[in-house]
Order: sequence, then C-alpha cells, then structure tokens
Amino acid sequence: MSFLEAVRSDGLLVSRPARIDEHRVSDRNTFLDWKKATSDPLLLRKLSTLPEIIESWIAPYGGFSGREVLDFGCGFGETAAGIALQYDVTRVVGVDVQDKPARCEPLLMEKIGIGGLPDHLTLAQIEKGALLGEQEFDLVISWSVLEHVQRDSLRQTIADLWTALRPGGLAFVQISPLYFSPEGSHLWAIGYGGWEHLLRQTSEVLADIEAAPHLTTEAKDRLVRLYSTLNRVTANELTAHCDAVGFEVVRQQRDRTEKTPSACLTEAYCVEALTTDQIVLLLKKPDLSNEGHPHPSNQA
Ligand SMILES: C[S@@+](CC[C@H](N)C(=O)[O-])C[C@H]1O[C@@H](n2cnc3c(N)ncnc32)[C@H](O)[C@@H]1O
Repeated sequence: MSFLEAVRSDGLLVSRPARIDEHRVSDRNTFLDWKKATSDPLLLRKLSTLPEIIESWIAPYGGFSGREVLDFGCGFGETAAGIALQYDVTRVVGVDVQDKPARCEPLLMEKIGIGGLPDHLTLAQIEKGALLGEQEFDLVISWSVLEHVQRDSLRQTIADLWTALRPGGLAFVQISPLYFSPEGSHLWAIGYGGWEHLLRQTSEVLADIEAAPHLTTEAKDRLVRLYSTLNRVTANELTAHCDAVGFEVVRQQRDRTEKTPSACLTEAYCVEALTTDQIVLLLKKPDLSNEGHPHPSNQA
C-alpha cells in the first residue's frame, strides 16, 4: 500500500471538507499581514522565501498554479504551508520520517494566527522508504533532504520521487551544504565552518561535540546523529542518480565557496567537491506519450 493509500484509508484526505475559497482568501490575507509585520527571519525564510525561490525556478513551466505538490522531507512543514498559503496550488502534501509535521498546525495558529491547516494541505509522518504513490503529483520539492537519506537507498528514493510524478512533472531538489564543502559536517552549532570534519579524525569531532559548553545532552545527541547519518553525496553523484532514474535536468545551479582549501585537503580530495557548497536542480520527468506536443503548463 502506498503512503497516500494509507492516508486515504485513515480518512485524512477523503474526509477533508471541499475547498472553500473564502477560507483560502482569508488565510492568505492573514498570512500576508503576518509577513509584513513579522520580526522572525527564520520562519519568514521557510514560509515565504523558499516558496518564492522555488516559484522563480518553475515559473517558466507554469509556476505553482494548479499544481499538486509533494514536499519530500518537509520537516515542520513550514515551506509546504507557505506554498499552500501563497500560491494557487490544487493541493500540497508534505511528508517526513520524523514526527515534525504534527507541529505545523499549532505553529501556524500561534505564529500566523490562522485557524488551522488549509484544507488543501496534508502533512504526515511516513516510514523510511514508504512508497509515495504513482503519478500523483505535478511537482516534487526536496529542500535540504537528500543528503540525509541513507546512502544505499538514495537512488531508490530518487526513483520513488520519479514514480510519484506524472509524466511531464517537475522535481526541484536542493542540497546545501554539500558534505565535502567547508560547512558540510552540518556542525555549525559547534563552530565548524572550515572543513574541520575532513581535517580531524572522527573521535576528535565527537569529542568537540561532547565538549560544547552551550549544548544540552539532547542537543549533542542530535548533532552526533545528524553528523553520522550524512550520506556524503556530491553534486556530481546526485546528478548521476537523477540521470540514471530517467530525469532530465532542465536547470541547475552549483554554488562555490569563497574559502580556499588547504594543500592537505586538496591532496586528499577533489577540489570541485571541496568547493561546491550548494547544488540546485530542476528536473523533469519526460512525457514520452506527448513527445512533440508538450503540455501547455510545461512549455518554457
Ligand atoms: C534539514 S531537514 C529539512 C526540512 C525541510 N525540508 C526544510 O527545509 O525545513 C531534513 C529533513 O529530511 C527528513 N528526511 C530525511 N530522510 C528522509 C526520508 N528518507 N524520507 C522522508 N524524509 C526524510 C528529516 O527527517 C528532516 O526533517
């Protein structure tokens, strides 16, 4: 049974009331008022800036309008909610292996002041590797997620995203910071930002986390888990996986650090991997049934 069938059998999707347009307008206005007044840059980034960046990438292909969107690895669901609140999407589904999505509704009610999750937004925790359903979506997004997927299932995960897309559908994928770049350890909370994880042995890195005076035991445990489960994917590897499952890269951006790796690093690692800190890909699932006659919403 796919994740979506499971959700439907729980009644979550089918029991939702029909979309009431006045609710959408009222939620959007409340959201826009919050946006003007907020002094919470982190929440603003997740709720508004990330959706805007994604919209700017997909605008040549029709933008968010009318799309069914899957946010894979949605975390607390802020970006999925921001898309549902700001754009004229048909529906947004956010999934994550942790229980974070459950915290979205109280967060939106408390911070933004809306009455609950929009009717066309569904957020759910899923099992690792759960099937996502076949050809359910027009757009899949994955922001800062694929570097956390277990290495030996990364290609299968990307293949699952492909399966979840309708022919002609788009996938927006972003990873930053990439593992071999200066901040690739994701350990900025203990001041790492200059390839320390590649220059020190693992026991030293773990000792640095343990010695951080400002972190609770729980926060330290979280950092150790985070650090030890990074899959070390490089920009080239990610692109190769996407290519292998059949995606066409329609746009890509690779950002480089301004920092210079030491001779010790360049002797051991590839300079391109050391200096590429972000990759953003816009991928398309080719519509083979429609060759020569692209769907209007997918025309550049
Ligand atoms: C760094 S967070 C990013 C969350 C969100 N995309 C954002 O930008 O705020 C990475 C998220 O990916 C989720 N994740 C990791 N592996 C996953 C998998 N195999 N399936 C679904 N979610 C996954 C984690 O639980 C985590 O919430």
